[in-house]
Amino acid sequence: MPAKPREIPFREELTFLKAMIAHPKGVGAVAPSSPALARAIARQIDPDIAGKVLELGPGTGVVTEALVERGIEATRIVAVEYDPELARMVAARVPKAQVIVGDAFNLDATLGTQAEPFISAVSGVPLLNFTMRQRHAYVEDVLRRLRTGGAMVQFSYGLTPPVPACRDFSVERVAVIWLNLPPARVWLYRRR
Ligand SMILES: C[S@@+](CC[C@H](N)C(=O)[O-])C[C@H]1O[C@@H](n2cnc3c(N)ncnc32)[C@H](O)[C@@H]1O
Repeated sequence: MPAKPREIPFREELTFLKAMIAHPKGVGAVAPSSPALARAIARQIDPDIAGKVLELGPGTGVVTEALVERGIEATRIVAVEYDPELARMVAARVPKAQVIVGDAFNLDATLGTQAEPFISAVSGVPLLNFTMRQRHAYVEDVLRRLRTGGAMVQFSYGLTPPVPACRDFSVERVAVIWLNLPPARVWLYRRR
């Protein structure tokens, strides 16, 4: 029997909506990701590889929580969210995660002295709302912060990857999630 969809608590929905109205281009979705999408994203991360996971644009923390359910200790998660109210929600939902209010497009400033490379990254930043040049620079910058073999997981609502493969990185589609509004695709980026 298919799993019963989790009801989104009203406060979570409202906070997300408020953020959407304040900066629609940055939030880029009508609701937080469904549990099915959050699980599909978290499934791409191997909890047995030691080290920290970088999460960009956690929103209300639905993917952060799925990462913990996947077996990644909350203390291993560094989440970067630029909306302070959403960031507070992530911190309340997953108290042991490190939540930073900052810009995922300016990781040097946002991450400061965090020098250790991450094992992987998951990104919910709505890349389709940015120029191709910005998207490309974003993927390159995130991949640069991962250990050898690490991958960046990105979801999007488009049929094709938000940034096409190039000389420096590859991209593959790892899931299509129909149980999401709108249906979403999960992409995996790796350095060549
Ligand atoms: C489509 S929502 C995804 C939220 C969550 N990951 C989910 O799956 O429900 C995009 C999120 O990225 C955040 N965001 C957008 N641009 C950002 C940036 N430059 N730096 C950090 N967070 C950003 C938004 O505030 C929002 O929380």
